Amino acid sequence: MKTFVVLLLLLLTLFITALHVSASSDDAWSNIEKQRLDTGGLSRDSFPEGFVFGTAASAYQVEGMASKEGRGPSIWDVFVKVPGNIVKNATGEVSVDQYHRYKEDVDLMHKLNFDAYRFSISWSRIFPNGKGKVNWKGVAYYNRLINSMLEKGITPYANLYHYDLPLALQEKYGGLLGDQVVKDFADYADFCFKTFGDRVKNWMTFNEPRVVAALGFDNGINPPNRCSKPFGNCTAGNSATEPYIAAHNLILSHAEAAKRYREKYQPKQKGRIGILLDFVWYEPLTRGKADNYAAQRARDFHVGWFLHPLVYGEYPRTMQEIVGERLPKFSKSDVKTVKNSFDFIGINQYTSYYMYDPHQPKPNVTGYQQDWNVGFAYERTKDPIGRRAYSQWLYEVPWGMYKAVTYIKERYGNPNVILAENGMDDPGNVTFPDALYDRERVNYYRSYLKELKRAMDDGANVTGYFAWSLLDNFEWLLGYSSRFGIVYVDFKTLKRYPKMSAYWFKQMLERKKH
Ligand SMILES: *[C@@H]1O[C@H](CO)[C@@H](O)[C@H](O)[C@H]1NC(C)=O
Ligand SMILES: *[C@@H]1O[C@H](CO)[C@@H](O)[C@H](O)[C@H]1NC(C)=O
Ligand SMILES: *[C@@H]1O[C@H](CO)[C@@H](O)[C@H](O)[C@H]1NC(C)=O
Ligand SMILES: *[C@@H]1O[C@H](CO)[C@@H](O)[C@H](O)[C@H]1NC(C)=O
Ligand SMILES: *[C@@H]1O[C@H](CO)[C@@H](O)[C@H](O)[C@H]1NC(C)=O
Repeated sequence: MKTFVVLLLLLLTLFITALHVSASSDDAWSNIEKQRLDTGGLSRDSFPEGFVFGTAASAYQVEGMASKEGRGPSIWDVFVKVPGNIVKNATGEVSVDQYHRYKEDVDLMHKLNFDAYRFSISWSRIFPNGKGKVNWKGVAYYNRLINSMLEKGITPYANLYHYDLPLALQEKYGGLLGDQVVKDFADYADFCFKTFGDRVKNWMTFNEPRVVAALGFDNGINPPNRCSKPFGNCTAGNSATEPYIAAHNLILSHAEAAKRYREKYQPKQKGRIGILLDFVWYEPLTRGKADNYAAQRARDFHVGWFLHPLVYGEYPRTMQEIVGERLPKFSKSDVKTVKNSFDFIGINQYTSYYMYDPHQPKPNVTGYQQDWNVGFAYERTKDPIGRRAYSQWLYEVPWGMYKAVTYIKERYGNPNVILAENGMDDPGNVTFPDALYDRERVNYYRSYLKELKRAMDDGANVTGYFAWSLLDNFEWLLGYSSRFGIVYVDFKTLKRYPKMSAYWFKQMLERKKH
């Protein structure tokens, strides 16, 4: 009799469990939202009053409608069409279709308790030929996007350039290699300040100019695919000089746009302007002097290439010595526009590497990466520097966040910093709905944000943080084979599903009712 009751109970339990499991994944998922997730003690109150939390994305990666509604092509539009360039020949033609779904996306930001959205404006959607004729449909789109943000209390942070140079300017004068780009960029920026600046108070000129110069002109893996023969598969280019010329023009373009903003718009519009720099933390592999110097060279050639001129009006001394005559010079009047041409610095921080002195003679072929004269390591005495995310370059190293932010504070006079990108990716082929349980991403954000807070507690003047990215989207060379979103996108239906990390942010960012 007793056994019978136990058996019955057991069967009943099994039945209930089965019922539970067979409930739709949507139901199971809705419980995640109610579950308390471990914020590691972090909350809004861990950060100063007014600290801004947002997510970041870029035009070509999320908008879609790439060749529609009057948008002109950028250098990426032609590049992605060459078979074999992008994983599975993917393009940003449709991507996640934010062009039509912006309201839903802004709603999502609001529901997840974010304060801001860092988006980018596609230059060739405004000026299909880079200059001259305006595409008013493009202007109308950004007006709709900005207005919908303001309706939902999401502060717009507008970036003017995210890798997407208008093709027309590439063809006309070699794009970033031509000094005409300085005026053309400033004119485009001026138009945006004039048109959107009544509502946009946070401007950024360029995203990751170092990536633009290095990947476009040193190893040539990104458009316009220029490099010297030994460094990549390019039809033309010169890795010894062109990265430096492109970077110089990027700096002058930034400075000229900032000057226009400050002289013509800032007094009335009361906004601010900055630039976005990627910064990998470089830790010396050993305590030896040579490795210390190697790590310092790496930092100078990486973030210093851009930040040193902006703060001190010249390139880092290490670069001046090593690059010599190949390094362009700032004239006296250039220095006046370049130095202090920012109200804040955006730092994109994801990863860290060990650096060592390779103790090799100077290579007989010269290029930007050769100029660093360093070795890269990803482990120290067999201890990996961190777990690798899906992207090959992305090791998870939370302490690198502390060191990178602290370095900016100490070497560059504690400028106002916005941590403008941070995140990790999963492979694109993760199965659904398992992909929603992104515990590793939650760990990543929690541990990196703790280290950011530690750097701030130690005095770094950081006033905002942007996660990359709200949605899974077009990840450049990797196409859709890499997912950086805190929200999963089904690329067939374009339906959005918040992952656990999205709910983690939602809970961490809850506004306490005082
Ligand atoms: C990419 O396009 C090329 C040329 O059309 C084709 O041979 C190749 O199979 C395509 N790759 C994929 C993954 O579809
Ligand atoms: C180099 O580029 C050419 C033309 O773009 C292409 O046909 C070739 O396959 C590439 N080679 C390698 C090794 O990628
Ligand atoms: C660099 O030096 C090596 C060995 O001395 C030689 O084989 C090679 O041709 C040189 N490369 C160039 C571009 O001069
Ligand atoms: C941090 O930056 C803001 C904005 O530039 C500035 O108002 C503030 O005084 C700075 N704080 C410190 C401690 O330097
Ligand atoms: C996803 O692709 C990788 C190769 O990139 C493969 O190793 C893995 O097994 C795939 N996973 C699934 C779930 O298909």
